Amino acid sequence: MKIGILGSGVVAQALAAGFIKHGHDVMLGTRSPGKLAEWSARNRQASIGSFADAAKFGEVVVLSVKGSVAADALQLAVAANLAGKPVIDTTNPIADAPSN
Ligand SMILES: NC(=O)c1ccc[n+]([C@@H]2O[C@H](COP(=O)([O-])OP(=O)(O)OC[C@H]3O[C@@H](n4cnc5c(N)ncnc54)[C@H](OP(=O)(O)O)[C@@H]3O)[C@@H](O)[C@H]2O)c1
Repeated sequence: MKIGILGSGVVAQALAAGFIKHGHDVMLGTRSPGKLAEWSARNRQASIGSFADAAKFGEVVVLSVKGSVAADALQLAVAANLAGKPVIDTTNPIADAPSN
């Protein structure tokens, strides 16, 4: 299947590696494709795009960003690109600072 991953952190990269290993086509979505040059060189089967590109690419979409910015990432993905698709949400709603 085509898997679009919204996010490029350690969780996104680990899931991408797993999907690729099982024969799926993966696109990672990020605001800064340049920072993934090294990862991209090591993972030639995967492609890199914007959040909207990854959402459009995926038949299944994985949301894997910092929980506090999940809504921002989904907005960048554009609702129409997600319509009718299963979205796997890996996010945890962790605050930036510890609570007392
Ligand atoms: N379910 C589980 O078992 C499990 C385990 C571990 C972690 N998690 C959760 O998985 C998620 C990903 O964790 P992670 O450590 O891989 O990554 P992370 O460091 O929490 O998040 C990195 C991602 O957040 C995006 N991001 C940051 N600010 C943004 C903004 N203002 N707008 C849009 N995107 C923004 C970054 O986009 P750019 O690429 O553009 O910089 C990057 O792709 C987190 O919610 C974490 O809590 C879940």
